[in-house]
Amino acid sequence: MAPILIKVAVATLLALVPATQAQWDASRFAWYNSDAGNDFASAVPIGNGRLGAAIYGTGDEKISLNENSIWSGPWLDRANRNSKNALNNIRSQLMSGDITGAGQAVLQNMGSLVSDGYSVAGNPNSCQQYNPLGDMTISFGHGNGRSNLLRYLDTYQGTAFVTYNYNNVNYTREYIGSYPHGVIAMRMSASREGQLNVKVTMSRGQHTTSQTASTSNDASSVRLSGSSGQSSGAITFTSEARIVNDGGSVSSDGRSIIITGATSVDIFFDARTSYRYSSQDAMESALQTSLDAATRAGYPAVREASIKDNTALTGRVGLNLGSSGSAGNSDTKTRLSNYKRNANADPQLATLMFNFGRHLLVASSRDTGNLSLPANLQGLWNKDFSPSWGSKYTININTEMNYWPAEVTNLQETHKPLFDLIKVAKTRGQTMANVMYGCNNGGFVLHHNIDLWGDAAPVDYGTPYTMWPMGSAWLALHTMEHYRFTGDKSFLRDEAWPILQSAVQFYYCYMFDWNNYKTTGPTLSPENPFVVPGDMRTGGRTEGVDISVQMDNSLLTELFTAVIQTCQALGLAGSDCSNAQTYLSKIRPPSVGSQGQMLEWRREYGEGEPGHRHMSAIWGLYPGSHFAPLNSSDWAAASRKLVDRRMQAGSGSTGWSRTWVMNLYARLLDGAKVWESAVAFLQRYPSPNLWNTDSGPGSPFQIDGNFGFTAAVAEMLLQSHNVVHLLPALPSAVGTGSVTGLVARGGFVVDMAWSGGKLTRATVNSRIGGTLALRLADGSPFSVNGTPYSGPLSTTAGAVFEITS
Ligand SMILES: *[C@@H]1O[C@H](CO)[C@@H](O)[C@H](O)[C@H]1NC(C)=O
Ligand SMILES: *[C@@H]1O[C@H](CO)[C@@H](O)[C@H](O)[C@H]1NC(C)=O
Ligand SMILES: *[C@@H]1O[C@H](CO)[C@@H](O)[C@H](O)[C@H]1NC(C)=O
Repeated sequence: MAPILIKVAVATLLALVPATQAQWDASRFAWYNSDAGNDFASAVPIGNGRLGAAIYGTGDEKISLNENSIWSGPWLDRANRNSKNALNNIRSQLMSGDITGAGQAVLQNMGSLVSDGYSVAGNPNSCQQYNPLGDMTISFGHGNGRSNLLRYLDTYQGTAFVTYNYNNVNYTREYIGSYPHGVIAMRMSASREGQLNVKVTMSRGQHTTSQTASTSNDASSVRLSGSSGQSSGAITFTSEARIVNDGGSVSSDGRSIIITGATSVDIFFDARTSYRYSSQDAMESALQTSLDAATRAGYPAVREASIKDNTALTGRVGLNLGSSGSAGNSDTKTRLSNYKRNANADPQLATLMFNFGRHLLVASSRDTGNLSLPANLQGLWNKDFSPSWGSKYTININTEMNYWPAEVTNLQETHKPLFDLIKVAKTRGQTMANVMYGCNNGGFVLHHNIDLWGDAAPVDYGTPYTMWPMGSAWLALHTMEHYRFTGDKSFLRDEAWPILQSAVQFYYCYMFDWNNYKTTGPTLSPENPFVVPGDMRTGGRTEGVDISVQMDNSLLTELFTAVIQTCQALGLAGSDCSNAQTYLSKIRPPSVGSQGQMLEWRREYGEGEPGHRHMSAIWGLYPGSHFAPLNSSDWAAASRKLVDRRMQAGSGSTGWSRTWVMNLYARLLDGAKVWESAVAFLQRYPSPNLWNTDSGPGSPFQIDGNFGFTAAVAEMLLQSHNVVHLLPALPSAVGTGSVTGLVARGGFVVDMAWSGGKLTRATVNSRIGGTLALRLADGSPFSVNGTPYSGPLSTTAGAVFEITS
C-alpha cells in the first residue's frame, strides 16, 4: 500500500472545508454538504466511457452501477411486412390530400404494433431499453452521527469524493472512472489506524443469475452476474468488485465481503457483457484481465493514470465567463437556489454547467473498442428497468444533441462511439430499407429510435412521431462534421464515406416525384402535430403524417451537399456522386408563412401545439447551417420568426428544447437571447447534481440538455459553419472573459480574451493547414499578426495567428 499521496490530498482538502470554502473553484467543483439520500438526481456521476457510477455518499454508501451494453434483451425483428405493398397507395393518398386516411394506413401497415405474423412477441412496439447493472452497497455502520460531511465532483479530474467525521475519526472515500485501466476504482480510508469496517455487497432488482463472494490472500471479490431475462438470446453480464484491504481482517458470508479493523480499503470494479464477447469464457477472461491489471497496478497508479487521461481531455478547454466572487462559494444546491433570484451574481454557475457537460461526455462516451456505445438519453447512468423513454437512442434530436459539443469543445475522440453504433445500425437499416420500402441498393433507413442493436423499425404508435425515415440522414451528417473539424481524410474515406454513401443510396431509391420535386413521404416533422385543413379529409383533427416536410428537405440539402463535398475531397466519381447533384437541385425550396415564419410543412397548416418543443423546421439554422445569417439572410429571417413565435407560445419548455433554443439564437447572432435562455435553463432545469431534466427537478433526467448547453456556450463564442467567426453572439452579461482551446471547422484551435464586450486578443492555431477565413463579431475590423485583415489567409499546420482588434 502506498497511501501517502492520497493522505496528502485528503489533508489539503480537509483543510479547505468548511472553514475556507472561498478557495473552491466555483467553475470546477459541484459540491454538497449533505449526502444524496435516496435521490439518484443528487448522486454524483462518474464513468470511464463504458462503466458508469452514481455515488450517493450515504452512511452506508450506495453506488448505482451501469455498463453501457446492459439492455433489456436481444434484437427484435419488428418490421411490418405490409409496408412495401402499402407504400404507393399511402403516397397517392398524401398527394391527393387525404392526410387522415394516409395516417391511419401508415400506422396499420408500417408501424410495428399490429400483429402481422412477423413481429416478435414481447415488446414489438419499441426497441430494447437501457437497463441498470445493479447497486453496490458499502456498509460502514455510519448511520447517524456523521458530521462535516462533504461530497463533491471534480469536473476536471472526473473524480468524486466523500468525507466526514464520525466518532472523532475522519473517513474519506474517493471514486475514479478509469479509462486507461477500464475500471471504476475507489479508496476508502480512516484517519485513525484500524478504524475502518466495511461490508461490500452487490445486488440487482431483476434477473440476477449469481451473486457470490470469495476471499483469498491477495484480494477478495464480490461477483454479480445477471441477464436480460429471455430464455434465448438474452444479454448476459458478469461483474466483479475486487477488494484490497490495508490492515484488518477479511471474511465472507458467501454474498458479501466483510472487512473489520482496516485503515484503508480499495475496490476495483469492472463488468463485461455478451454484447461484446462471443463466449462466456471470453467475457470472463476479459473481466479477469482488466481486474488483475488494475489490482496489480494498485490504487495510486490507477488514480494517477486516470487523472492524467481525463485532464488531457477536459483540460483542452478553459472557460472564464467572469467571477462570481462570494456567490460562488456556496455549495451547489445553494447556488442553484440563489440563482433563481439573482442570476447575475453567479456567472460561474454557467461555466460550471459548461464544464459539467464536458465531464459527462468524457465519462459516458469513449472509444472502448469496435463496439463502443455512444451516450444514450441518460448518458450511461440509469437505475431503472423501465427508464423514461427507455433511455434509448432517440435519433430525431436527442442522440445527435449529445454530440453537439464533441468537436467544438475539443473532445473529438468522444464522437467515435456514435460512429460505431451507426455502423451497427447501418446493417440493420439496409435490411429495413428493403423490407419496408423495397430498396435493395445498399441504402439504409432508420426511424426515430434505435437501440444498441441498431433496431431500424418504426417505434411507438402515433402519426406525429412513428413514421420518420430520416434517422440515417441526420446521423450520417455527424461523420461529415467530424471530417470538417479534423480534416482527417482517412476517416473520410474509410469511415464516413461508407456511411454517407449508404445514407444517400436509400434516398435515391426512396424519394418520389411530386410537383417536379424529389420528395419524402410518408414522413412527419418530429413529434409536432398539425391541424388537418378542411380539404384534406377530417378537417380540424390533429395529425402528423405528410410529405415534403421542411426538416426532411433541410436534412437532405445538407446530406447531398456533404456527399458532393466528400466526392470532391476524395476524388470520387460515379452515380452516387452525380445523383447527389441531381437530387439536390430537385429539393423543394423552403417557403415562408403568413407571419414571415419558416413553414414547417408543405402548406401553412394550423399548428396543433404553437409552443412545440421541437424546432425541426429550422434544423437548417442549427445544427444545419444553410439557414444561417451569413449563408442566407432570407431563411435566417424566417427562422428567427419561427423561433420567436415558438418562444412566445411557451416553447423551450423542456431542458433540451431550451438549450436547442440557445444554439438557434447563437446562430442568429443574438447573444442577449442566448443568455436569456441560458439563465432560464439554469433556473429551471438542473437537478441537484446538475443533470438536465425534462421539466425541472423531480422530472426525468435526460442528458441531452447538458450537452446542448455546453455546445451553445461554445456557439456564442465561436462559429465556423461559414467563416471562423470570433465572438459572433457574445452576451453583454458576460462582457469580460476568456476561453482557450475551442475548435473551428478546418482544424483551427482558437483562444480568445474579451473585455467590455469586445475582443482584446485571440490566437488561432492551425492544426492541419488550409485556408483561414475570419470574421470578428458583427464584422468589426481587426488585425492578424499586426496587419489589417483583408481576406482569407493560407496556413500551414502549426502556424499561429495573433488577432487584435
Ligand atoms: C478531521 O477533519 C476536520 C475538518 O473537517 C479537521 O478539523 C480535523 O482535524 C480532522 N481530524 C483528523 C483526526 O484528521
Ligand atoms: C476493429 O475493426 C477493424 C476493421 O473493421 C479491425 O481491423 C480491427 O481488428 C478491429 N479492432 C478490434 C479491437 O476489434
Ligand atoms: C455557408 O456559406 C459558406 C461560405 O460561403 C459555404 O462554404 C458553406 O458551404 C455554406 N453552407 C451551407 C450549408 O450552405
